[in-house]
Amino acid sequence: MDIIETLNAAGQQDLAAHLETLSGDARKLLERDILSQDWEELKALYAEKSSASKADNVSADLKPMPFRIAEDNLKYDYWKEIGEMLLGKGKVAAFLVAGGQGSRLGFDGPKGMFDIGLPSHKSLFQLQAERLQNLATRVGHPIPWCIMTSPLNHEATVNFFTEHNFFGMDRDNIRFFEQGTICALTPDGKAVLDGDRLALVPDGNGGCFRALAQSGSLAWLVEKGIEYVFLYSVDNALCRICDPAFIGALADNGMMASASKVVHKANAQERVGIFAFQNNKPGVVEYSDLPEEYRDMTNPDGSLVFDGGNLAIHLFKVSALRKLQTGKLPWHTARKTVCGIENCFKFEQFLFDAFPQLGTMLPFGVIREEEFSPVKNAEGTDSPKTARTMIGKLHREWLVKAHVEVKPGKLYEVSPTISYAGEGLSRRVFERELGRNILEFEDA
Ligand code: UD1
Repeated sequence: MDIIETLNAAGQQDLAAHLETLSGDARKLLERDILSQDWEELKALYAEKSSASKADNVSADLKPMPFRIAEDNLKYDYWKEIGEMLLGKGKVAAFLVAGGQGSRLGFDGPKGMFDIGLPSHKSLFQLQAERLQNLATRVGHPIPWCIMTSPLNHEATVNFFTEHNFFGMDRDNIRFFEQGTICALTPDGKAVLDGDRLALVPDGNGGCFRALAQSGSLAWLVEKGIEYVFLYSVDNALCRICDPAFIGALADNGMMASASKVVHKANAQERVGIFAFQNNKPGVVEYSDLPEEYRDMTNPDGSLVFDGGNLAIHLFKVSALRKLQTGKLPWHTARKTVCGIENCFKFEQFLFDAFPQLGTMLPFGVIREEEFSPVKNAEGTDSPKTARTMIGKLHREWLVKAHVEVKPGKLYEVSPTISYAGEGLSRRVFERELGRNILEFEDA
């Protein structure tokens, strides 16, 4: 079938007609966009999603997933040791999904470049790079880092890393690659045009598995002997990248294909996915898909029934990733204004939909104040200010535990170059590093 026939068969006569009006480079570019898309799939998606309601994404058989705070487990230190041993043997890689547009924050650029206003003015990317470096040095082995971007922010991301000399990391240990895109559709199912091009939007963070494989990065990891992939989002200022205890816990559970960090929800309205079993399979139901009656359901003591919040920190065995069928991940829909057209269909895959397909997932409970401070909004909850305050309080806590006499009312920023999660601090280190790698501040 030629391109025009394909479009006509998929109900895209308007697009076919528009293509016929173009010539030269404009035609070639639009043809390239068209050929990048699976029009049969888009037609089927539109048919399915235009008649579906939000509740269709959630089965009637939804059960909460119980979890325990891992630090309370007697095996915690043992898990940490196993994790450090695996990291030291080069069995673990980090995988950052950073293809999102960060539109809620209102920052015009890759979110990882954002400076949350700490006294050091380090970007989210730098905080992550330094934490990873610290851990790699401690375990005595480099940790490969895969970074997924999208066509909208790839160049800016790579340029930022290049300008900062990859934050002192070995360039050969970092792989950048772009995720795929999918065409937005108008409310009546027509392809949205952006001038003479298709309005292609990133295919959601669930596109990470396809992008990892298609970019050759999965093969790169396999060749390096990697067995565990730590998969995380760009915006959590407290993310303990490649947390050894988390890795050790999964390694200690031979039957499990994956693990996820879980936090008690702050309140029913918090915009986090919740961990649950659907039809007896473990997974996450996204906040945008969760009907209110489930969201607000409480136990007799007033606590939330669906209380396990998703921090977007996951761990996959490479053997599981190799089995994953990315074509079978479901598509979710958001209705957004695209190129001035209201209520368009934007389709996305979510990475946590890998869990029901893999069938097993270990929930690993963590303490919010230690590990979860996402930067989503310019102001209010989950903002740069809340992240600064949480970092400042946590790092002050680390110093107090190291017997440092901190000043009342002051917050502290401890550089990840000198401490990964509070270790290596003492009065002597404090005196030496204050004003250099330890900075004192007050939050306005
Ligand atoms: C995400 C989780 C949510 C969780 C919350 C915690 C998903 C689908 N949702 O929600 O369950 O409670 O984080 O903070 O994971 N991204 C891409 N490509 C895309 C879209 C997103 O790489 O096409 C990346 C973003 O850059 C970001 C991450 O995925 O690093 C999360 O995306 P975001 O849109 O910020 O998800 P949330 O709504 O915050």
